[in-house]
Amino acid sequence: MRLARRSAGLSQQELADQLGLTVQVIHRLEAGIGSVSTLLMVMAALEFRLSGLGPGTTLAERLRRVREKRGLSLEELSRRTGLSRTTIAGLERGGGTVKSLQRLLAVLAPKVRRQAPERSYWGKGDKIDRDSRFTPPDFMASIYDAFGEIDIDPCSNELSPVVARRRILPSEGGDGLADDWSGRLAFVNPPYSELLKWLKRTHEQWKAGNVETVVCLVPIRTDSPWFQQVLSVDADLFLLQGRVRFLDPRGKGQHTPFSLMLVALGTSPEQRKRYAELVSGYWVKRS
Ligand SMILES: C[S@@+](CC[C@H](N)C(=O)[O-])C[C@H]1O[C@@H](n2cnc3c(N)ncnc32)[C@H](O)[C@@H]1O
Repeated sequence: MRLARRSAGLSQQELADQLGLTVQVIHRLEAGIGSVSTLLMVMAALEFRLSGLGPGTTLAERLRRVREKRGLSLEELSRRTGLSRTTIAGLERGGGTVKSLQRLLAVLAPKVRRQAPERSYWGKGDKIDRDSRFTPPDFMASIYDAFGEIDIDPCSNELSPVVARRRILPSEGGDGLADDWSGRLAFVNPPYSELLKWLKRTHEQWKAGNVETVVCLVPIRTDSPWFQQVLSVDADLFLLQGRVRFLDPRGKGQHTPFSLMLVALGTSPEQRKRYAELVSGYWVKRS
């Protein structure tokens, strides 16, 4: 919790003020002392989610479901944790203390941990390595089906499974940020470390009529003035449900640690409808 608070850039006092609590309450919680109900408030404020605990909409429900899934009665769990049955039942109703919750979790879900917070970049490796993530064939199958064959991949890689008539490859001296694009359909999954530059280039090539239609696969980063004032006027956005499992240069799959969207330029309503039939997610409605 302390790490989560610090990475949110908050002091104990600021977090306390935000939640209408005293600073002592935060101080004690970070030492593992306090009530579960306060802990839940703080977790919500810090977007601190748990993984390794099974499904459910509340912590209490998840505790009960994981106990039931493991076929443990209150008596058995009481014996294993040293907590009373009343205490466990209280935790399963959203009450109890942080100390008893920790004891329960140690037995019930020893692998519970903080879910990796949403990031908009690949974590490890240098820039080249982080940008070398390739769109998997199953994801591409829906793109081909809905939008047709790809004429150009302006930011390609010799290891990428994306099938395109023309590929601009840095290894062959090509530069998708400088060379003219061509063809009907472009598919753009660019280096995310230079996302805005690539989206601007995409928009410029499309506006110039060098490509009729473009589909970009990019992280959901929508906060730049250019995105809001220029791109969003022309683009249709499809917010993907779940994460895409990209391939790394060794062919190993890795889910993105961030949410993704399609940014589409010049697509037809029929193409968009077909895509939504094939892939979970939705097209953002235009006002
Ligand atoms: C995220 S990968 C995606 C590759 C492919 N488009 C795909 O979807 O599988 C981005 C790739 O862009 C390529 N790239 C980087 N800078 C480039 C440039 N200036 N011109 C063309 N390609 C570039 C690199 O080869 C890098 O592997």
